[in-house]
Amino acid sequence: EKFGLLAGQHVVITAGPTREAIDPVRYISNHSTGKMGYAIAAACYAAGADVTLISGPVSLPTPNGVKRINVQSAQEMLKHSLDLVDACDVFIATAAVADYRVAQVAEHKIKKAGDELNVALIKNPDIVATIAQQAKRPFMVGFAAETQNVEEYAKGKLKTKRLDMIACNDVSRSDIGFASDENAMTLFFAEQYAMQKQELVKASKLEIGKQLVEAIAAALAK
Ligand code: C5P
Repeated sequence: EKFGLLAGQHVVITAGPTREAIDPVRYISNHSTGKMGYAIAAACYAAGADVTLISGPVSLPTPNGVKRINVQSAQEMLKHSLDLVDACDVFIATAAVADYRVAQVAEHKIKKAGDELNVALIKNPDIVATIAQQAKRPFMVGFAAETQNVEEYAKGKLKTKRLDMIACNDVSRSDIGFASDENAMTLFFAEQYAMQKQELVKASKLEIGKQLVEAIAAALAK
């Protein structure tokens, strides 16, 4: 039997980038390293939770005790998220999901020809928003990286994606976020929670992960 703030809870965490194929040898992706999601996974496990990471391609070791499902595309990440939703109590979306994917993935390597190549893109599904619409809805945590109007945009996403909590950081600061080992963030909660806003001051991603676990446990207790 496990002890801790999240004992008995099954936490599912999406992390890292997604990779959207163009042809058999090329893809569209982003610079997400997965560090924040992996740190949160470790913190949740340390707090007694059963933890599943649904991870895009990253070069990080799987945290001790954490189950990891490797995926490439946003559609694959959504499929595995939907498969786990019924058994999930807390869903934490840290993944940097590609907003668009290639409309028609080429079956064979695209050969170079003219000076221009056009690739049509179509919108990917919003994973966290889709999970939040399921009948058995877990406690939903999203992330927002903003460079301006941080509070306004974060609160907007909290509502439109139907989240319980959103963790938001100012990515215009070079000392935190992205590939950094440190982070600082502001948490906003949905209206039904007593706490509306909470600051997590600059600390290691592991420490931020711990504080996030405490905030989630406090909200779940309501
Ligand atoms: O809308 P935006 O991409 O800024 O929202 C970020 C939040 O939504 C993150 O929690 C991210 O993991 C999640 N997200 C998602 N699926 C997408 C886009 C974003 O789950 N297609």
